[in-house]
Amino acid sequence: MIPITRPVVGDQEVAAAAAVIRSGWLTQGAKVAEFERAVCAYVGAGHAVATSSCTAALHLALVAAGVGPGDEVICPSLSFIATANAVLHAGATPVFVDIEPATLNIDARAVEAAITPRTACIMPVDQLGLAADIDAIGAIARRHGLPVVEDAAPALGANVGARRVGSLSTLTCFSFHPRKVITTGEGGMITTGDEGMAARLRSLRSHAASTSDLARHGSAAPDFEEYREVGYNYRMTDIQAAIGLVQVDRLEGILAERRRLGLRYNTLLAGLVVTPVDAPGREHTFQSYCVRLPDAARRPAVMAHLAARGIATRRGVMAIHLEPAYRGRFPGLSLPETESAAASTMLLPLFPGMGDAAQDEVVAALREALG
Ligand SMILES: Cc1ncc(COP(=O)(O)O)c(C=O)c1O
Repeated sequence: MIPITRPVVGDQEVAAAAAVIRSGWLTQGAKVAEFERAVCAYVGAGHAVATSSCTAALHLALVAAGVGPGDEVICPSLSFIATANAVLHAGATPVFVDIEPATLNIDARAVEAAITPRTACIMPVDQLGLAADIDAIGAIARRHGLPVVEDAAPALGANVGARRVGSLSTLTCFSFHPRKVITTGEGGMITTGDEGMAARLRSLRSHAASTSDLARHGSAAPDFEEYREVGYNYRMTDIQAAIGLVQVDRLEGILAERRRLGLRYNTLLAGLVVTPVDAPGREHTFQSYCVRLPDAARRPAVMAHLAARGIATRRGVMAIHLEPAYRGRFPGLSLPETESAAASTMLLPLFPGMGDAAQDEVVAALREALG
């Protein structure tokens, strides 16, 4: 079977995890701090705060941005369900807006039109590894005095001009799930330029304790921590962070190979399906390779045909407002571009190490299926 993806992990990750286990300090500690510094330096942010997942990161980021009950958060419906779940976890209401069909990212013009007196935050998603139009969204946010929480779960390494995603918005959240560019098994990270927000995030992720475990461990004097607000356990472990540090060293190589394979698919599939595109000043990192079929109704048959040839596929991005958990909350909501993309898109295998021969097999099978 050609899988949809395969993480790039090996003996170095095994050795790094084993060293942490042997050290006796397994939960959040020095390795998490080192991993935060590495990601922070890579994206060019002021501060980075590791979490147990990107979903946890999004929830914390919204809380730190001051989002709470009664507030509205503008976000795309065309995303993984975690985007909107985080808004509900924060007690706020997602306000879904439509996408630009070419990039599958939130339409900045629709964002401005959706702002109301209750809007507390704008939450763009850098879908499938292509940055949203963060410059336009940032300008709208500044005009209205709103924070931007960027869901960059799939987009470590993506750029807007000369700047990297992670250095652009009030708060940016990344995922290290194995389907993402680099992995820690599960894990997330928030980057921000705001020192006060970073301090609050660090506190909130560990029950809002006034001092960390590591500080108490290293303290010569008795250290009685206080809990001044209700926080969460969203900690990353040092085992995960040690794996993440090895992964950061692999990042440039992974990104280069993903880009090569993505562009190669684009050439081989031109004219057969609609292929992913770069946007002005923004290069696609192909965290997932998503095509749009000419006829949405044929998608199940196409996916079945590829599966019979030993090739894994997935539906493309979901429309959150059409999922059972959300349908009842948004009766009658119509987002034509989102609904069309959700019905007609499909992910193809793409991962470093798949090789050109496997890619040729996928292309041949898709050509056959579309007959
Ligand atoms: C756009 C988006 N947001 C959030 C998430 C959630 O990430 P995690 O699995 O790390 O919680 C994902 C994961 O697939 C995602 O694609």
